[in-house]
Amino acid sequence: MKAGDDRRAALAAWLRDEVATNPGTLLGEGYQATVHRYASPLGDVVVKRPHESFPRRRLGIAALRREQRIYERLEGVAGIPKSFGLLDDRYLVLESIAGPSLRDHEPHLEDRERFFTDLYGTIAAMHAAGVAHGDLKRKDNVLVGPAERPYIIDFGVASLRKHPAGAWNSMRFAWFAQLDLNAWVKLKYRRNMSELSPEDAARYRPLWLERIARWIRIPWQKLTLRRPRQRWRQRRRER
Ligand SMILES: Nc1ncnc2c1ncn2[C@@H]1O[C@H](COP(=O)(O)OP(=O)(O)O)[C@@H](O)[C@H]1O
Ligand SMILES: [Mg+2]
Repeated sequence: MKAGDDRRAALAAWLRDEVATNPGTLLGEGYQATVHRYASPLGDVVVKRPHESFPRRRLGIAALRREQRIYERLEGVAGIPKSFGLLDDRYLVLESIAGPSLRDHEPHLEDRERFFTDLYGTIAAMHAAGVAHGDLKRKDNVLVGPAERPYIIDFGVASLRKHPAGAWNSMRFAWFAQLDLNAWVKLKYRRNMSELSPEDAARYRPLWLERIARWIRIPWQKLTLRRPRQRWRQRRRER
């Protein structure tokens, strides 16, 4: 039996009871999973689980299995929450990071320079471990933990480098890794791209898909009522 299996089994037993009786604190609801926080015997944990309805449930379980594999690859990387595994093949249990998202906290960062240096370190370590996130531009996916330490979450679309990697896997990985660096630069400079230091300018390489995305973003946002939806979600969170 592997070290930690006992703890994991105890956590699974506790979680089965807890989920049946306590709704937990809702943190998010995406296409494939819902996310809650629970106070567990091992401290606060975040539980990501699939939706109950049939087609979404199958998809959700597959997505969570994949996300767990990614967390396994990233074990020990500073700035990535620890995973306790996919318990009962349906609950992805993660260390809960105490702190707001970068979206909520950005105006209050005390040491922006250090925050983004640390975040860069996590991105570089993540890439070295064979994971490229692909959705870091979204400020909800970066959390500001205790002592203003950055944490990266939500590997729902991430790319996992295979060994050996075929051509398609290598290409997708390189593409996502560059997307991560570009997102980091944009976040760090708040999109003021004329202010990049020479070092950061060398890290930024806009991809043709991003250019197209920028070009269609504004009409698309209008078409999909993105702003009103964001405001509505924000109000719902504040309630
Ligand atoms: N490890 C964590 N610690 C604290 N909060 C978390 C953690 N993981 C997720 N969350 C919260 O739950 C929300 C949804 O989780 P996420 O993994 O982004 O799911 P989704 O795929 O639905 O976007 C996040 O935006 C964040 O607020
Ligand atoms: Mg998310």
